[in-house]
Amino acid sequence: MPNSVIVLGTQWGDEGKGKIADLLTSKADIVVRSQGGNNAGHTLVVDGKKVVVRLVPSGILHPDCLCLIGSGVVVNPTALFEEISELEAAGVKNAEQRLKICGAASLLLPVHLAIDHASEKKRGKNAIGTTGRGIGPCYEDKVARRGVRVGDLLDLNIFRSKLQELMEFRNFQLKHYYGAEEVSFESVYEEVLSVRERLLSMLDDVSALLASARGAGKKILFEGAQGTFLDIDYGTYPFVTSSNTTAGGCVTGSGAGPLSIDYVLGIAKVYTTRVGGGPYPTELTDATGEEIRKVGSEFGAVTGRPRRTGWYDAVAMRRAAALNSLSALALMKLDVLDGLDEVKICTGYRHADGTVTQLPPLAAVEYEGIEPVYETMPGWKCSTFGITKWEELPEKARRYIERLEELSTVKVAIVSTGPERNQTIYREDPFA
Ligand code: GDP
Ligand code: IMO
Ligand code: MG
Repeated sequence: MPNSVIVLGTQWGDEGKGKIADLLTSKADIVVRSQGGNNAGHTLVVDGKKVVVRLVPSGILHPDCLCLIGSGVVVNPTALFEEISELEAAGVKNAEQRLKICGAASLLLPVHLAIDHASEKKRGKNAIGTTGRGIGPCYEDKVARRGVRVGDLLDLNIFRSKLQELMEFRNFQLKHYYGAEEVSFESVYEEVLSVRERLLSMLDDVSALLASARGAGKKILFEGAQGTFLDIDYGTYPFVTSSNTTAGGCVTGSGAGPLSIDYVLGIAKVYTTRVGGGPYPTELTDATGEEIRKVGSEFGAVTGRPRRTGWYDAVAMRRAAALNSLSALALMKLDVLDGLDEVKICTGYRHADGTVTQLPPLAAVEYEGIEPVYETMPGWKCSTFGITKWEELPEKARRYIERLEELSTVKVAIVSTGPERNQTIYREDPFA
């Protein structure tokens, strides 16, 4: 029986990871985030009430669930405590007591936000379209070995001197490279100091917690953030985020061993969306794209930006299946396509020289001139909203899902027909 399940995005983020992570947490003891930061926005809808979590794992709504933030996450402490306050205001009990953070997690500071903004401004029309949350610069500092980590707060002398070194470098860059305003060292130091005790009270050895929980037969859910094609290595580089969003990132960023994973559930919409810049072969810029955006409320949970919309891309999904060792897919938002006369699936990429390929390229420049090859199927033209049984779906909707399954080379375990927990069809239970 699978005890450790990864839930991750297989497209460009916002696939509905939050809904599925929250849903599966009813069976899990622990939920862990391993990468990303508050660029994530995971929406949970329970009894008509909407909660968006950014840094806190989606398990937090379940009162007995332990929530972990692993070493691969970039933690903005101010944003974290704002989120905890929002959760408490929404009636979530003991959120802070149930949250443990790895000492090796990076601290994301106001200077990272300043660099993110300055760097996007300098890129001009080539901007990545980041969420502006300082994510990339924080990971840069981590990899450059000048980052500050949650565990550094244990010794204020160490923390202060590390922060000084980091800020000296970043302020030089802000002033002399970007021509932007510097960030005051003392204000950052004071900001972190004001939450130091609270942060330290959450400090724990996440890797060891996971190992002992697994040993005790506990159920663990790994909650991915962003999506496969925003992965720093395998996404549409450079239009990506700065972490490994694929299954490997869940392992390195939590400290769980690779053989401790039993099941990888890929989350995908039955269409696609993308926020920010970068290649998107199946993008729809016509009335159908607009209708999908409207019916699917495709606006960013973090920045409110309208999401780009398009058809399901089986070419990209085949890559996602291999990159993540997908055990199965959860296909989300079937109801959004209810009104369409026809639905399309991208089955190949046609290149400028006429050749058709079955797998996506590895960098943004290689997408130049690519045209999607489509297979068209009839729409079902009736409501699937809230349906909970496979047999109750209209036949054409079932045929569409079965075709997605075939072309994606991954079985479909879950179909989602609405934002609420119970608006879900189970064909297989990942934890069973
Ligand atoms: P995440 O970042 O992957 O967790 O996804 P987001 O929360 O950013 O975006 C997914 C949106 O779709 C949220 O507003 C969800 O409430 C909503 N959603 C999830 N599943 C369904 C579904 O099956 N149907 C509809 N209509 N909405 C859904
Ligand atoms: P969830 O977890 C969708 C996108 C940004 C931008 C690129 C880089 O809710 O699915 P960053 O701020 O990370 O440096 O931005 O990645 N992006 C997301 N898109 N969902 C997300 O998270 C995203 N997190 C980052 O729009 O294109
Ligand atoms: Mg989201």
